[in-house]
This record gives sequence, C-alpha cells and structure tokens, in this order.
Amino acid sequence: MDRRELLRRLLAAGGASSLLQFLPSMPAHADTLDAPDTWQSQFDASTVPWKSGFATPRGDLPRTAARVRGRFPAAVGGTLYRIGPAGHDLGGQRYHHWFDGDGMAHRFVIAGNSVHHQGRYVATAKRAAEMRAGRRLTEGFGTVFQGTDEVTAPDRMNVANISMLHLGGELLALWEGGSATRLDPQTLETRGIKTWRADLAGVPFSAHPRVEPDGTIWNFGVSSNNGLLLLYEIASDGVLRRADALPLADLPMIHDFAVTDKHLVFLLPPLVYDIKRRIAGASMLDSHAWRPELGMRALVIDKKDWKRQQMLALPVGFLYHIGNAWEEETPSGTVIHIDYPRSDDASSLFANTREVMRGVLAGGANPRLTVASLNLGTGRAAQVELVAEAEFPRIDPRSVGQRHRHVIHATNPLGGLPMLSAIASTNVESGASQVFSYGKQAVVEEHLFVPDGRGPGWVLGTMFDCAQDKTVLSCFAADALTDGPVAQATLPYALPLGLHGTFVPI
Ligand SMILES: [Fe+2]
Repeated sequence: MDRRELLRRLLAAGGASSLLQFLPSMPAHADTLDAPDTWQSQFDASTVPWKSGFATPRGDLPRTAARVRGRFPAAVGGTLYRIGPAGHDLGGQRYHHWFDGDGMAHRFVIAGNSVHHQGRYVATAKRAAEMRAGRRLTEGFGTVFQGTDEVTAPDRMNVANISMLHLGGELLALWEGGSATRLDPQTLETRGIKTWRADLAGVPFSAHPRVEPDGTIWNFGVSSNNGLLLLYEIASDGVLRRADALPLADLPMIHDFAVTDKHLVFLLPPLVYDIKRRIAGASMLDSHAWRPELGMRALVIDKKDWKRQQMLALPVGFLYHIGNAWEEETPSGTVIHIDYPRSDDASSLFANTREVMRGVLAGGANPRLTVASLNLGTGRAAQVELVAEAEFPRIDPRSVGQRHRHVIHATNPLGGLPMLSAIASTNVESGASQVFSYGKQAVVEEHLFVPDGRGPGWVLGTMFDCAQDKTVLSCFAADALTDGPVAQATLPYALPLGLHGTFVPI
C-alpha cells in the first residue's frame, strides 16, 4: 500500500483532520471518579509486604552497584534493559491501574561478578507536562481523573511503560496505544518520539514486536476508534519496509501476536472496544466490553500478502501474551502451533491489576500455559491446556517463528502476594516443567532466555524479594533451573514491579 492510500484509509475511517486525531473529540472529564478520591491515602496507609513494588520512585535512580553472589557467565555479559510503570502518584493523586504509571527504564550492566543498575523515567510529553504542573493533566489507560484535558491524540496518553526494543544502536521504549519513544542506550536519556515514516507519526506501535532470527521485525498497532489493525514490517537496520491499516470487525484489545515462517498470527480475545463507552467518558480500559459469544478468534495473515487472511475459532478465553508460534505442513494442510498463557476471562485486567494500586489483592483466575493448533487446511482449531500456570512467556530468540520446545515463564501463584513466585521452563510438547521457586516472599518478574552458542543457554531475570524489600537479578542454567541460580545480584533497594525487557550482549 502506498502512503497516500494508507493516509486515505486512516482519514476515511477516522473522519479526522489529522492522522494524530485517533481518539474522538470529547468533553474534558468532569466527574468520572467519585470524590473524594482516597486511593492515595489507602495506599499510603497500606502495610502489605509487597508495597514497594507499586511505590513511586521520587526521581531517577543513579548508577548503583549490586551485591553479587556467584559469577555471571560470559554469555550474559552485557546489558539487561527493563521497563515498567513507576510514576503512579503525583500531587496527591494516585492512578487506579498498574498499567497507567509513567514508565521507568532500567539498565542492569552485567560483567562477571559486577552488576550495576540505573533507572530513569522516560521523559514523555505527558510526564514532562505533568511534572511541570505538579498534577495529572491527561487520563491514564485505566484511570480518568477529574478535570483532565481532552485527549486529542494517542501520544497525549503515552507513558512508554511496557517493553523495550534495541534497534540500530537505539533503544525504544514501547507503549501500546501510540508511538515508540527513543532512548539513549547508555544514559537512558529520552531522545523523542520514533516516527517510522512521516505519515505514520503518532500511529499506534504495539509493545510486543517479533524479531525473527534474520533480524526482520514485525509489529502491529490497534487503532480502536477507527476499527483498524495496523501492520508493520521493518528491516533489521530499522528501516520500515511496509505498513498498512486493515479493517477488523469487533476489534478487541490485542497485546501480543506471533509470527511463523509464512504468517502473522493474532489471538483475539472477546474484549471488544465499544466507542459509545469511550464517548461517554470511560477510560480506554473501561471502554472494552467482554463479549464471550465471540469466542477467541484466531486471525492468520499471509506475511507476503496481508489481504490474504483466515479466521479460525478457539474456545473463549483471555490472554496478554504469546510464547511462540510455528507452522508445519501436514496431509490436511498447514498447521500453526501456538502457545499462550490462557485465562478464562479478563478479570485480572479489571480487578487484580487495579486493586494492587491501593494495596489490595483481588485474587482471580491464574492463566495456564495452553497450546493451540490452527489447521489452515480444514479451518479447524483445537487447544490443550497444560498443567503449568504461566505468565511472561519467553523463548530462545533464535527460535522465533520456528519450532521450539521450551518456554520460560513465571509460575506458581502463592496466596498473599501479587503475581507469581517461581520461574519455570516448560516443554510445550510434553508438558513437563522444571521449576525453581524463589520462596514465599518473592514476586517474579519476566525472565529472558539468553543463548550461549550451542550450549543450553541461560535464564536471566529479576524478582522482588519482599522479605528484604530489594530487587534481585538472577541467572540460571537453562537446562538446570531446579538447581537454582548460578549467580545473583541484589540491589540495595526495591524497584517498582516492571513488565518487559531485552538483553543486549556486549
Ligand atoms: Fe506484555
């Protein structure tokens, strides 16, 4: 599609005078939340042991040495970048959803028995303006404060807090509903918004791009108000090859997707955007309705010709993330295998991730690792739920889109703590897991697989040790998780619980 056509399609769908005008004009929110808002005082008064995980660092965190036990293997020598919501409260107001907070980027520089950490808020336009004002000026993904400004473009809400992509010597802090934000990989200083092409300025670029072994990057974006699914293909040098905007009926919240040799694969939970709710003043989150009658749709798109699409049906469910997908030829046609942590519904998004902001655990269903098969020949889809509870699935980056056997993921929910407490490597073909539990006072964050030549590789990730009130970085042998970490680095403080990261070797 040429640029003129993309522009035409976006404008026609949105009826907007500018590509940036993706959200409908609506009155400034006057009375969305009950007054007085007590979330800040509730959180301040909370004595839960995991409180630091949702606290707001007052400023950037300067380079600090960690206490290291053991020695980090040479293959994990480099930098682990992580990011997550961190700026949760400002001027006596506290966001009501974990995903709302201003993003803070982290770099863990690892070299043998030395680890240094640095944290820096992403200086988004939203954060810069609100820090100057000393109060929230624009709503968050799940919170609409009284008297906030009209949202005229997605990036007005952009908090750059979900994930990171290292590309062409630049570090991108990714959000879901707007632009990527460019950071300096050495200093984490914010350089500005990433514009892939002039006519794509401000267009949603999601937080889970897929990087193929040859470096090709695929990503998508969801333009909710326009009913459009945006697709991106980017060369390994960071140059955009293609972008398009495809209409998609009953457009849901889509957080992740997958690629195979020949296809892009979307699992579409029935959490569907309802523009009427949005116009009535609901947050972006609360503008989504659970419509189980839609089931879980699986949209498969031909990589070469994005107009060639097939929709398959899976049982109703909800997901944030996908581990991996790959395809094989069978006598009945091409079969795509795809694994993902599946929940029965989206209650975690509306309850757990909201209530933690005032120090409350809402509980709810825990996702289980599920392996689906999509037969493009017969049009039939089926799935098997494995035993393992799972979130934050990651695989060997050399296997993206190819057959893989192991998924690294957090697992093992314990009562009394948010999120999960152990790390696992699960064989998606046999269902067998190796598990290492960090103990009853640990909240596990995402762990990555770090390749090491032909060896089994390493598992690298952070957890929040509530007993010590500190964040700990651990490294495991990928084939011996149950043996425990080969090295650990303990920071002298706890970081706000984060979402995703990327490892860049030296
Ligand atoms: Fe994510």
